[in-house]
Amino acid sequence: MSIRNAVIPVAGLGTRLLPATKSQPKEMLPVGKKPIVQYIIEELHLCGIERALFVTGRGKSSIEDHFDDDPDLIRTLREAGKEDLLEELQYERMGVHFLYTRQRRQRGLGDAILCAEHFAGDEPFVVALGDSIIGRHKPSLIVQRLIAAFEAHEASCAIAVEEVPMDQVSMYGVVKPASDSEVFEITDLVEKPKREEAPSNWAIAGRYVFAPSLFSAIKQTGFDHRGELQLTDAIRLMLREGKRVVGVRLPREEKRYDIGNFESYFETFVEFALTDPEFGPRLRQHARELLK
Ligand code: UTP
Repeated sequence: MSIRNAVIPVAGLGTRLLPATKSQPKEMLPVGKKPIVQYIIEELHLCGIERALFVTGRGKSSIEDHFDDDPDLIRTLREAGKEDLLEELQYERMGVHFLYTRQRRQRGLGDAILCAEHFAGDEPFVVALGDSIIGRHKPSLIVQRLIAAFEAHEASCAIAVEEVPMDQVSMYGVVKPASDSEVFEITDLVEKPKREEAPSNWAIAGRYVFAPSLFSAIKQTGFDHRGELQLTDAIRLMLREGKRVVGVRLPREEKRYDIGNFESYFETFVEFALTDPEFGPRLRQHARELLK
């Protein structure tokens, strides 16, 4: 069986990136030359995804505009002989079909994914968080490896994980691995644990594959103290029901870039800009001068 459907939740308020996100989605912020969502679509396309459902919210319509055809722009670029740019902007030509639904109230990631229930139907699906890029200039194949592990282990959930320094575990969902192999069973997971309570330093890295049974787990999950339905709570429930959850490690060269806070957004932008094949060399020189 191959998995062709992906859900990309992009409805979050992005309060940690205010004022940048006051009137534009954080998922549309540029990293180097492209907005974040474009990296995600390129990654998913490479992994065989054919239908991508964005779970959007108020103020997120620029995401739809970005992937829409723009006849005036196409004509202008064609007349100017900019065929290379034209090619890059024709997303539908990639063979990915874009769909959109709306999370009416921002009640957490679990609630956002629940909006995709009818889209997923009774087939397994990928979830790619809208605020994480995986890999730098070369898109990652982690989703393919997640799908392979999900199928080989007859799992209900496969999660990409990345090793983080112990003093950063409180920023992430953290898993408890049953072994130290590349693909391992997960026996527990905790959302943003205190350092002393963390079951490991393997953090959830924003890419998942789920069986449709996730939806009933989300529905049984209660809202937390902030009024949000947490995805990690729903996965925990699946574990308690005896369902198999596996983790797949991200190799170092397929690092996750989380752009959800300014510190990592700045670092990500600088890293992508400094390594841009066209503008990187000049920028490196400029940075050296600034740092003198
Ligand atoms: P975050 O956990 O970073 O939440 O979302 P957020 O609300 O966007 O950001 P802050 O905490 O206010 O700064 C992770 C991903 O899940 C989506 C976000 O759009 C982001 O891509 N999300 C989050 C939703 O779609 N709906 C939600 O209710 C929450």
